[in-house]
Amino acid sequence: MLADEPIGTISPRLYGQFAENLGRCCYDGLWVGKDSREFAHTEGFRTEVVRALREMRVPLLRWPGGCYADHYHWRDGVGSNRPRRLGLSCGLTVEDDNSLGTHEFLRLCELIGAEPYLAGNMGSGSVQELCDWMEYCNCPFDTTLTQERRANGRAAPFGVRIWGVGNENWGCGGSYDAETYTHEFRRYATMMRHVDATAELVACGFEADWNRKLMEILRDNLDLVDHISIHRYWTGGGPGEAFSQTEYERLISEADQTEAFIVETRAIVEEVAAGRRHIGIALDEWGVWHPEARTWGPGAMDTITPGYEQAGTLRDAIAAAVALEGFHRQCQSLSMANLAQVVNVLHAPVMTDGSKVWLTPTYHLLKMHSVHAGAVALPVIVDGDEISATASLKDHAVNVTVTNRSYTQPKEIRIPTLGTVTSSDILTGSLPRAQNSHEMPDLVRVESRGWEEKEGEAVAYMPPHSVLTLGFGG
Ligand code: AHR
Repeated sequence: MLADEPIGTISPRLYGQFAENLGRCCYDGLWVGKDSREFAHTEGFRTEVVRALREMRVPLLRWPGGCYADHYHWRDGVGSNRPRRLGLSCGLTVEDDNSLGTHEFLRLCELIGAEPYLAGNMGSGSVQELCDWMEYCNCPFDTTLTQERRANGRAAPFGVRIWGVGNENWGCGGSYDAETYTHEFRRYATMMRHVDATAELVACGFEADWNRKLMEILRDNLDLVDHISIHRYWTGGGPGEAFSQTEYERLISEADQTEAFIVETRAIVEEVAAGRRHIGIALDEWGVWHPEARTWGPGAMDTITPGYEQAGTLRDAIAAAVALEGFHRQCQSLSMANLAQVVNVLHAPVMTDGSKVWLTPTYHLLKMHSVHAGAVALPVIVDGDEISATASLKDHAVNVTVTNRSYTQPKEIRIPTLGTVTSSDILTGSLPRAQNSHEMPDLVRVESRGWEEKEGEAVAYMPPHSVLTLGFGG
């Protein structure tokens, strides 16, 4: 059932993605190089992947890290004669030829229709380096840096709005304590504001203690911060594929609790900001991190899959659906959310193997869910076990997405009719562990689903572990 008062607008940025130079995400997954003869590509990016991401409607893409960002020197990735460096992130060291740099990444964003989000280096970089990157990308004046941009093929400013001032600086981004990070942030942000006063700056958050200290130190400098970044990975669901019902339920419940983390962070921010400034909560890394792809946390492995690659099952898509319901409920404070990561790494919607490309259940979920992006979130009252839902209104049409979280039980769902049913799509599979592969790319997919109208209600049948979107038109 829908209650009366709308919650707020669901920013398309809540459907953001994250591309780090880690494993086969950026190199191989996205970028195969302009000279590749092996892969069909568009200006160096796999054509099939570009098409899939455009069709999924990725509104926002964060790059180049993650932990990689705090080692990254942007100058290595512009112009010709790019240096070969160590690519460093999350304990993986690779040779990095820097062929995918600023111009290439920002071109990818144009190709898929995404807004870029650049994460700056506060680990091994400097304030001047980050200010220079900003000037290079955004400055309309005629300076040596903008002349260089022009010489490298881009006359008009790129106009990058979102800038991360470091990443996980409590850990891989320099092992700062909260006080030291915040004082440094203040210096970086002050100088960056001088270069581009319109940019949105993202401060690195963490858990409650860190976030509280950060806010207290910034009490009189709130104008320097637009978003506070937090990360949430779900690690409690046992193996990626051979999980039990209990582990299935644990993962879904962990996904559900992501909302509480957003609410807790918002409360800390509000305590200090007290209405003086709106600071968004940027959940700029989220998703499931299975034990096969990590050496830490519950069920940690001694040896992990190369490149942080993991299974992407229907369960992961259901978990994402549950998290998105919370994102919609918190859309007034959550300013962005970026799934980690966009291709091949962790909770990826798109996978590649050689020239093969396939889409995971999470891809289909996100594409189905994209009807809510930019719409007005409506409060929902759900009466029933193991069922949850979200609804939104856009252009006089209401879309309701229902999740049947149950491992075993089908459900009949009844929604008071909100107009004519114009679409009915369901994502499900034979088992929660069902997944796609290059041999069977369509095992889990979205299908149209029948419904009935009975006594002023749209009635649909949902198998266990499924997600249904019903569209109602005027
Ligand atoms: O997404 C993988 C890693 O997880 C990122 O590099 C880092 O920010 C986080 O710890």
